[in-house]
Amino acid sequence: FAQNARIKIDLDRKIGEVDKKIYGNFVEHLGRCVYGGIYDPGNPLSDENGFRLDVLEAVQGLNVTLTRYPGGNFVSNYNWLDGVGPKEGRPTRLELAWNRLESNQFGTNEFMDYAKLMDTEPYFAVNLGTGTIQEAQHWVEYTNVESGPYYAELRKKHGYEKPHKITYWGLGNEMDGPWQMGHLNAEDYAKKAREAGKLMKLTDPSIRLVAAGSSNFYPGSNPMAWNKTVIDELKDVVDYLALHMYVGNVDDNYYAFVASPLVLEERTKLVSGIIDEAMSRADRGERDPIYIAWDEYNIWYRWRSSETMSGDIALEERYNLEDALVISSFLNAFIRNADVVKIANMAQLVNVIAPIFTNEDGLFLQTIYHPLSLFAKHAHGTSLDVFVDSEKYDTGSFALGLGEQKADLKDVPYLDVSATVLGDELIINVVNRHKDKAITTDILAIEGAFTGDFEVFEVNGPDIKAMNDFGVTNVDTKTKSIKGKGEKVTYAFPAHSFTMIKAKIKQ
Ligand code: AHR
Repeated sequence: FAQNARIKIDLDRKIGEVDKKIYGNFVEHLGRCVYGGIYDPGNPLSDENGFRLDVLEAVQGLNVTLTRYPGGNFVSNYNWLDGVGPKEGRPTRLELAWNRLESNQFGTNEFMDYAKLMDTEPYFAVNLGTGTIQEAQHWVEYTNVESGPYYAELRKKHGYEKPHKITYWGLGNEMDGPWQMGHLNAEDYAKKAREAGKLMKLTDPSIRLVAAGSSNFYPGSNPMAWNKTVIDELKDVVDYLALHMYVGNVDDNYYAFVASPLVLEERTKLVSGIIDEAMSRADRGERDPIYIAWDEYNIWYRWRSSETMSGDIALEERYNLEDALVISSFLNAFIRNADVVKIANMAQLVNVIAPIFTNEDGLFLQTIYHPLSLFAKHAHGTSLDVFVDSEKYDTGSFALGLGEQKADLKDVPYLDVSATVLGDELIINVVNRHKDKAITTDILAIEGAFTGDFEVFEVNGPDIKAMNDFGVTNVDTKTKSIKGKGEKVTYAFPAHSFTMIKAKIKQ
């Protein structure tokens, strides 16, 4: 490039507070996520409760703030009562979402024990597919009511004297998708969700509710109309609207694929407009606005269809470096929209489209683990609106994922950037999307100065298709320190890399 690219940091240009809950994850009863993933009784690597300790250690390295459970599509045919009480009495069910047998040996209380070890806040989804609004209410009673009514007492009988106090509750999953068991149209969903939410909040008024927003972007669907109806109908009831997005490099078009998180940003802006239109400040009084929960996002296209699944093994994507760049850009997108995106959950935690991959003898960290861990550890505080001047490209028309609507992005900057500041600590997150070239960049402090050396974390690998495996680490995080004093620091971001810079800044 003829000229240096520029990143200008202005501490006065604040977007909003980064909610810690954007570093969430997701545990679904699907494939080997629970059984053979986090829970593997009898395995020498597991503790007396059946929790795999090597997996737990890797999970802890992700600083997961909020964990969604138990689905996903699974929840839409799940009766939570099957998964509580003495294990020998729990029924085995035919699980229709993923066509497998569910032993119910892991349920509400096992998940809550695990959540404590993870040090994560739980986020439960209720079954609004085949389930009734009363089952949803009973679940809140079981988990959140101290004592008195039948289900609170049942929990105590099951050995849990104190309530779990689960704050975040999702009203169903992907109810806009015809694949969902108990799929409804937007009006009928809103009616059922409203009544379920009413009963749940009467049981525990402190809970926060998440409505099921758009997930269906297949041709012929109208996702924004779904969002509009749901928001219009549920604006007095819910606190968040859940959105889902999966992308995939189906056409093997690298430059389009690494730009695809920009579509998530477009969708965020559209939905945020719908929410603003439905809720004037006067309407909501003292209440917070409805925020966006991207409670499922990831790359998912290789192991997508049911033909590639066989019961207990499902959706076992192996990720490469380009996938890690996409995840970095998803996280950048959440930070750039920190004023409206307050929850995000990578789908999912272990084995199933996940950052951690196990076999009976151990595990390895997938490429996408590294940026997720870095962001969750360091990128906190206030999100800054960063000025970025770098060369740009157009993607042309491309498929976002299998069977999905197409996208066509113009003027995609090679550098994808976000920044946060907490006290005098500045974090700059930079994806260099260029496949072959390092991009030399002037990083400028506007009305202030960098006051110490830069700590640099870099996620990279030998080429964009580089992968990790058992005993093989091609993509991980390298750290170094560079001189970082004054108003301008020049740094060359290597080709196909994610770089996080940790700097000190003074105004
Ligand atoms: O994460 C895998 C699946 O993707 C979830 O079960 C569902 O909600 C979505 O379609």
